Amino acid sequence: MAEPQKGIDIDYAGLLAKAVKAAEVSYSPYSHYRVGAAILTADGEIFTGTNVENSYIGCSICAERTAAVKAVSSGARQFLACAVANPTDDECVPCGICRQFLAEFGKDQLIIVKKGQDGHIAMPLSELLPEPG
Ligand code: THU
Repeated sequence: MAEPQKGIDIDYAGLLAKAVKAAEVSYSPYSHYRVGAAILTADGEIFTGTNVENSYIGCSICAERTAAVKAVSSGARQFLACAVANPTDDECVPCGICRQFLAEFGKDQLIIVKKGQDGHIAMPLSELLPEPG
């Protein structure tokens, strides 16, 4: 597994637990697919978010971008990691828009995705989006 930032320990399980918790308040009456995200910033702060859907489906926002907007509007500018989870065993990997959005605040951040009940997969965002716009 690639290290996003040398010398920085990331509590994968702790970050994933916050993402799972965030999914509890998902507003997803259309897809019924709950997602939570937790972003660790370079200042050591953690911001969580969930997906928020809309009857006009194009207005919906993913959990990752909700967490990112909360982080940035609280002053954060550098993300070290983003954990993503849904309560089922489904692996929820960030969509293209979220990849681009997250890359603005850390091209090398680690994306941690819940896998099964207790596992995870992790990869640098630069692998998911090698050439951000
Ligand atoms: N969703 C996320 O919030 N994050 C992802 O990584 C994948 C998908 C949301 C969008 C929509 O509300 C629902 O999951 C179904 O796609």
